Amino acid sequence: MIDLHCHLLPDWDDGPDSWEEVDRMIDLAARDGIEAICVTPHYLRLSRHNDNPDILRSKFEEFFERCKKEKRLSFYRGAEVFIHPEVIDYIRREKLSLNGSEYVFIEFPSDQVPEGTKELFYRMMLAGLTPVISHPERNDVFGNRPELLYDLICRGCLAQVTAMSLTGEFGRTVLKRAELFVKNNLVQFLATDAHDSEKRKPILSKAVKALSDLVGQEKAEAMVNDIPQAILNNEVIPDWGSPLKPEKTRKKYLFLKDKNA
Ligand SMILES: [Fe+2]
Repeated sequence: MIDLHCHLLPDWDDGPDSWEEVDRMIDLAARDGIEAICVTPHYLRLSRHNDNPDILRSKFEEFFERCKKEKRLSFYRGAEVFIHPEVIDYIRREKLSLNGSEYVFIEFPSDQVPEGTKELFYRMMLAGLTPVISHPERNDVFGNRPELLYDLICRGCLAQVTAMSLTGEFGRTVLKRAELFVKNNLVQFLATDAHDSEKRKPILSKAVKALSDLVGQEKAEAMVNDIPQAILNNEVIPDWGSPLKPEKTRKKYLFLKDKNA
């Protein structure tokens, strides 16, 4: 399996603090059957080093040097970039796409889809970039108005669902949103968005089981293999279904707020 979204760079964001913790996370991932990880530190949010590109570059160099010895997994460079009007310049200047491809993770605030998102994504696409929305199921606006996500996906964006959302570990509200997005082909692949070895672990297998129940085993496997592989290769992703517009009955997708979400 391939995990395209994992905070594995030590002392950069809210991910691991030490190399020992990195080693524990790699060990968990390998034992879960993950064979490749795209390392995606936060950018424009939560950086401990004010997003300094020289520090980021040197941290990646150190990471790849140390991880040369790791034979169970291969590693790729990526980032999770917080939505920003100048995001295209940052992506180009600091090489923030996934493995140098046209695909780039864009993170939203948890309670907003900023005005101008559609125009920003259109500009990104004109610049040859494909926005990949990180875990839309954890965003309250997409959760309550899934037609906004449907619209963006129809325009050529992709979206990633987080493993712990599908296993219910972020609460029932997020689980229900994740299931809705999966069933309506509004998310194209699964990733861990892991941050540590305790609370947010790099584990995919449990969520793949949950996915299989929703979409069948073949598609569930594609969402952790063929689709992320195509992204790493900068290829068009295999077609596993066109986006479906969620029915506009409030009952269908407006969920009561879960205290644990
Ligand atoms: Fe993340």
